Amino acid sequence: MARILITSAIPYINGIKHLGNLIGSQLPADLYARYLRGRGNEVMFLCATDEHGTPAELAAAKAGQPVADYCAQMYGVQAEIAQNFGLSFDHFGRSSSQQNHRLTQHFAGRLAEAGLIREVVEKQVYSNADGRFLPDRYIEGTCPNCGYERARGDQCENCTKQLDPTDLIEPRSAISGSTDLEVRETKHLYLRQSALSDQLDRWIDSKADWPVLTTSIAKKWLHDGDGLQDRGITRDLDWGIPVKKGDEDWPGMEGKVFYVWFDAPIEYIACAAEWAEANGKTDADWQRWWRTDKGADDVRYVQFMGKDNVPFHTLSFPATILGSGEPWKMVDHLKSFNYLNYDGGQFSTSQGRGVFMDQALEILPADYWRWWLLSHAPESSDSEFTWENFQQSVNKDLADVLGNFVSRITKFCRSKFGEAVPEGGAYGEQEAALIADLTAKVRAYEGHMEAMEVRKSAQELRAIWVAGNEYLQSAAPWATFKTDPEKAAAQVRLGLNLIRLYAVLSAPFIPFTSARMLDAMGVSDTAWPEDVAASLSALEPGHGFTVPEVLFAKITDDQREDWETRFSGTRD
Ligand code: MF3
Ligand code: ZN
Repeated sequence: MARILITSAIPYINGIKHLGNLIGSQLPADLYARYLRGRGNEVMFLCATDEHGTPAELAAAKAGQPVADYCAQMYGVQAEIAQNFGLSFDHFGRSSSQQNHRLTQHFAGRLAEAGLIREVVEKQVYSNADGRFLPDRYIEGTCPNCGYERARGDQCENCTKQLDPTDLIEPRSAISGSTDLEVRETKHLYLRQSALSDQLDRWIDSKADWPVLTTSIAKKWLHDGDGLQDRGITRDLDWGIPVKKGDEDWPGMEGKVFYVWFDAPIEYIACAAEWAEANGKTDADWQRWWRTDKGADDVRYVQFMGKDNVPFHTLSFPATILGSGEPWKMVDHLKSFNYLNYDGGQFSTSQGRGVFMDQALEILPADYWRWWLLSHAPESSDSEFTWENFQQSVNKDLADVLGNFVSRITKFCRSKFGEAVPEGGAYGEQEAALIADLTAKVRAYEGHMEAMEVRKSAQELRAIWVAGNEYLQSAAPWATFKTDPEKAAAQVRLGLNLIRLYAVLSAPFIPFTSARMLDAMGVSDTAWPEDVAASLSALEPGHGFTVPEVLFAKITDDQREDWETRFSGTRD
């Protein structure tokens, strides 16, 4: 049994996330967590809301609410939707927690003691109309890189280039739209990442098993141009974690807060402390996941994120940790995703384009979405959601293959043998061949899941379902029954056992349906099929079951067209 720490990039608090966000980190992280738990490992799966910075302030202002109230409310909304999607976090925390305040200030203090922070008087955009500085998203303008007109001060949503507010062409205030802006001086803290460059470089080099895509991004930042740049970690904002050195005030930094990208990854750690508090555990209980001097040396730590987050996780956050000089657990493997597009364009939160998590659940149960998203995860390249593809995949994979299998075998058994596993004889040659085939496929499935190859895992799982369907088709117990009821009984017994096997194997992808299948089969033993043959004898003759309601309803053309129209515009 291994111990695995899993974190998903923490979603911004501002608004409900769209399906592109979901497949970009939380959902594949959940798949992995569920799989590893299913194999009997000890898993700590953490996620939280990312509550600081300009996105939260702007969204609260738009909603006409104090930002703390807005965050508390949206946290509740996001937590509930996450649960309805089956995201099995051990804890869903908040970056605004007291634990994160303390830890963030602690890290800043350690970094200052190590001489890794410098104070810089710099020029920031100040809005006369708004009477305040306009950091990051408080300012909008034209991207100097791609010409996109709604680029934000911190990053261009169109080309993903990271920006400085002063880079923007024709800048304007995102609060008032005012262009009456000037550049003023203000003092800020910079993390001396340049001083940590060699240490980071050696650390990246020690990650021989990382995908080139990931290491090359990090290497580029380390070596291109003037090398790794120092990074501003404070902002002139009200909402955020006050700048302090541990418990002490930081002279000259009164009224300023840490930059959201400084405190957000620290929330991965703070979240474990929140978990401990919420569950009546001790500091030692969470530290054994995070401190290598307190038991975390045998933990494997895996992070999930979208590709735009990679530099923060390969460089900025590691710089914070290495710079602290303390034995915190660092990431072992990092799984990143490309983008999911929506029907010929991009999903966009700011423009309300695409399908959002709450809307998705209004029209179909979570498993339909989970299956489509995971089986089309944007791994090697961007992928695209279209309603046609969604309809096809749900109807074929879920309804025709898995749903149909379960329905056919349970109904046939009920009509000929009643609602209990029939006796019949021993399994024959055809069954042995199926078991051999399934054994190979289950081992391949495990390999892909272990390697976090999400699409390959889905394909293999589908192939496992198909193998059962093909067996049923060719064994044809309904025909066998006429000449050899004994043999038909054995075939049905195998079929019913396959339902249990499928429920166990499919749980990481479609947990709700898996639970229904197990429930119908009257099973509580969800042991992983280390031995496929043995697991196909788990349900013994006489074991009662019920015929479940239709597992997956097909999506009709009318529904598809209806949804296509409904989700073609933008959400307010
Ligand atoms: N909120 C960020 C995003 O959605 C992700 C933050 S990840 C963390 O892009 F590392 F900062 F926690
Ligand atoms: Zn751009």
